[in-house]
Amino acid sequence: MKVARYTAYGGPETIALEDAPIPTPGPSELLIRVHAAPVTAGDARMRSGKVPRGMGFILRLVIGLRRPKNAPGWSFSGTIAGLGAGVTDFRDGARVFGILGFPGGTHREYLLVKADGLVLPLPESLSLAEGAAFFFGGLTAAQAVIDEAMVGPGKRVLVAGATGSVGSAAVQIAHHLGAEVTALASPANHDLARRLGADTVADYRDPPPPGPFDAIIDVMGGLGWKGARPLLPPDGRLVLITATLGQMIGAGLWPRRSGRRVIASMNRETKAAMQRLVDLHQAGGYRPALGQMLPFADLRKAHAIAESFHKPGNLVVEMVAGGD
Ligand SMILES: NC(=O)c1ccc[n+]([C@@H]2O[C@H](COP(=O)([O-])OP(=O)(O)OC[C@H]3O[C@@H](n4cnc5c(N)ncnc54)[C@H](OP(=O)(O)O)[C@@H]3O)[C@@H](O)[C@H]2O)c1
Repeated sequence: MKVARYTAYGGPETIALEDAPIPTPGPSELLIRVHAAPVTAGDARMRSGKVPRGMGFILRLVIGLRRPKNAPGWSFSGTIAGLGAGVTDFRDGARVFGILGFPGGTHREYLLVKADGLVLPLPESLSLAEGAAFFFGGLTAAQAVIDEAMVGPGKRVLVAGATGSVGSAAVQIAHHLGAEVTALASPANHDLARRLGADTVADYRDPPPPGPFDAIIDVMGGLGWKGARPLLPPDGRLVLITATLGQMIGAGLWPRRSGRRVIASMNRETKAAMQRLVDLHQAGGYRPALGQMLPFADLRKAHAIAESFHKPGNLVVEMVAGGD
């Protein structure tokens, strides 16, 4: 099978596709034939080492000083190709989707996961490509919109960076919860933002609409506390999806001065959060926006696109062409 590996911090050319034997599932493990996996802003950051200011050293301490030692690929969709001893909850051939998370390793043709790990049956209502795209932006957005911004009916919500992986999910979820959603996106993506459920759209390069907004989801950290503060009422909440080290530290201090809440969001990967997102999907509140799909052999090209931070929706590589 083909397996992707990072050889150094650097551009997409530092990704190698190597041959490896197909693994055998051990007790309580599933062998997954990977059909598709997303290539995300997070993948591009880990490969390049380019992270928000102040976070570079921390990233290298965690994943490697000289080269990223984690494996490429955060989540996956696929079918079960083998069951380890003692597995009773899954059947051979079933469609599944899941997360390996920070240690990575989904950019390969087969992978092993623990049967009681972060893997769920893929609902009939989703294609395998949608399954691959489902969790990355969706989990981050659900946490930001529901738990951190505490969005509910009638709330005024601003999503800045509204049509990438995180933003496209945040707009849908906020709209589903009954909020009035204003989306900031580049003009080419305004129609997409409206289709996702935005009531109002504007260009993030223009001065922001005056608000007030009960909650602001700042996907790229472009507004920051300085830009968001005039737009928030006294009890308003700013959720920073991308934050510098200074913003992370400041998030705990600013609210004491102003009464508003600033939250530097850090995605939590749990089965309960995954199941909540599936429930949201089944209630009509979320479907991953699929953008470009490329063959696995074009993984380097996919990384170059992900690194732009301007891709509409989710970018997916397919290990099995037309896998659905
Ligand atoms: N906190 C966490 O746990 C967590 C989890 C996931 C991702 N992230 C971070 O969140 C960020 C976004 O991830 P993503 O997967 O959504 O990326 P993405 O799919 O590449 O989307 C980026 C979005 O940001 C917009 N954008 C680009 N530059 C902007 C600017 N200066 N001002 C406002 N919007 C701008 C783009 O809009 P146009 O295409 O219209 O230009 C696009 O909608 C990344 O920095 C990623 O590392 C954090």
